[in-house]
Amino acid sequence: MPSRTPCIAANWKMHKTVAEAGQFVDALLPQIAATQSDVVICPPFTALTAVVERRYGTAVKVAAQNMHEEDSGAFTGEVSASMLVELDVEAVVLGHSERRQYFNESDEALARKVPAALAAGLEPILCVGESEQARDAEQTEAVLERQLQADLAGVEGTALSQVVIAYEPIWAIGTGRTATPRQAQETIAFIRDVLRERGAAADEVRILYGGSVKPGNAAELLGQPDIDGALVGGASLDPGDFAAIVAAA
Ligand code: PGA
Repeated sequence: MPSRTPCIAANWKMHKTVAEAGQFVDALLPQIAATQSDVVICPPFTALTAVVERRYGTAVKVAAQNMHEEDSGAFTGEVSASMLVELDVEAVVLGHSERRQYFNESDEALARKVPAALAAGLEPILCVGESEQARDAEQTEAVLERQLQADLAGVEGTALSQVVIAYEPIWAIGTGRTATPRQAQETIAFIRDVLRERGAAADEVRILYGGSVKPGNAAELLGQPDIDGALVGGASLDPGDFAAIVAAA
């Protein structure tokens, strides 16, 4: 089985000014100097450059939190893949449940965004996850399969290994409720099976867990065989907490 480099990503959401982003990176870098993992910081658009400039020569990669599928056009308020690449951004979070829920992000748009990101040389971090009602109704696998098939429809088998998947159960995001390591492992193994059916090099795809990951629960989650990293929201806002999660990988 190919070994997968762990990936720990900080999703800052709509937090941190340029000044605060700079302070965070300055505090974080000495604490993660020895890591062998990929460390990804996802700042708001306005703070991308502040993080990019500080992370040259380090293990840190920078991701945007969203992008538009077109390269340019009359789309007020949107940003394209080539605009991110110009800033030396390397990755982009796509389909986060907050974007699906509050901004009508659709599977149709994601089916275009994922290939657009790949074509521009950005690593897509595609988020999928079920609601609490879906889990209670034992629809978790059906929901995930539908999202994966729809969102990855435009990605050829071999390119799939360049996509990072983040499994984020909606009921665990920002709630303090974490999926148990066993639930997360089982669900992520299912996601890998879905990818395998698509003919992908599924053992090469990194699949992260997200949802109330904290320093205290990170090691057990990251110790599961199919969990290749974490997408961290609240606990990524503090450099010490985030460094502790990086150290657990
Ligand atoms: P959380 O957020 O760690 O605050 O639950 C995770 C996410 O939304 O990516």
